[in-house]
Amino acid sequence: MEAVPLLTPHKMGKFDLSHRIVLAPLTRQRSYGNVPQAHAILYYSQRATQGGLLITEATGVSDTAQGYTDTPGIWTKEQVEAWKPIVDAVHKKGGVFFCQIWHVGRVSTYDFQPNGQAPISSTDKQIPRQPRHDGGFEEFSPPRRLKTDEIPKIVDDFRLAARNAIEAGFDGVEIHGAHGYLIEQFMKDSANDRTDEYGGSIENRCRFALEVVEAVVGEIGADRVGMRLSPFTDYVDCWDSNPEAVGLYMVQSLNKHNILYCHMIEPRMAIVQGRHQIPHRLLPLREAFRGTFVAAGGYDREEGNKVVDEGYTDLVAYGRLFLANPDLPKRFELSARLNKYDRITFYTSDPVVGYTDYPFLESSA
Ligand SMILES: Cc1cc2nc3c(=O)[nH]c(=O)nc-3n(C[C@H](O)[C@H](O)[C@H](O)COP(=O)(O)O)c2cc1C
Repeated sequence: MEAVPLLTPHKMGKFDLSHRIVLAPLTRQRSYGNVPQAHAILYYSQRATQGGLLITEATGVSDTAQGYTDTPGIWTKEQVEAWKPIVDAVHKKGGVFFCQIWHVGRVSTYDFQPNGQAPISSTDKQIPRQPRHDGGFEEFSPPRRLKTDEIPKIVDDFRLAARNAIEAGFDGVEIHGAHGYLIEQFMKDSANDRTDEYGGSIENRCRFALEVVEAVVGEIGADRVGMRLSPFTDYVDCWDSNPEAVGLYMVQSLNKHNILYCHMIEPRMAIVQGRHQIPHRLLPLREAFRGTFVAAGGYDREEGNKVVDEGYTDLVAYGRLFLANPDLPKRFELSARLNKYDRITFYTSDPVVGYTDYPFLESSA
């Protein structure tokens, strides 16, 4: 029999994972009015397996955290109650379920903000308009730079969101410190032009991120906390002149907090001889981190098996493939054909189409 490294067990803290195929956080924009909906019960439970790790779509920590239509939140009682049956359904299937907690910062517009106020950020530099997949452009409003004494309130929003996630039944939270959102707007030197203790040196730029980690760990315990980081990406005009150093400083600091896992995004893929090549630049960060390491970005079955086998990572998170293949672990086990994802319906609001109607293996055979 062919060995399938992705299907071997891994002990992540107190969680006994039965395989290494993680559902990556995937924004689906079907949580009307920022409240999770009943149709998410089916969506997440379709992707749940005994001992499999699932991470929710990015979930707002407060009413200033939003930048996209119909993304869920976890700051109100109504939202917490709405998450409960979704979490229950995943647990009934034996899944381990983490909530990704998120603040968009300046990746927003007046329309998404309370009273039409300016989005908050580390800076008042506006994101230049960004090209969209459909040929159009995404526009962002000029942000307002947080005053030093306003920052503890935002840290506290993350703490409360983590408490709410546990109240909703989640096994833990993943702090979203990736992709150009608020935490990265502090972390990276293209976006952080502050002169207070939250700007300048790497230590200062990572201060906000680590205050969030400390607050969340203090609230729910380090054994329930993961963090997603993307030092090498440059989304929404957020990049760093020394990504290796920022990544290493963060990982070493996360070790001090003893958190459960670190989830890293691979640098943009290069195409070599007609095939996507994952650059594998995360190795020094993986080697420095003491908890469970999760890699994401462009993996398929073959590449995932290879990196687990080599010890380059403990777990592999799959985004688009898991979105389109609710039974991805089963398909990987059987080396079965995969459904193709439909980019057009990634973010449309239909509660079924492109969401819960991707066929399972039995029905597509
Ligand atoms: C539709 C869609 C929504 C996404 N939403 C999120 C999100 O909410 N939070 C996040 O950290 N990453 C998000 N991502 C990034 C994915 O988690 C993942 O890192 C990315 O798709 C690369 O992995 P893949 O090549 O396996 O798809 C999203 C990606 C897609 C395609």
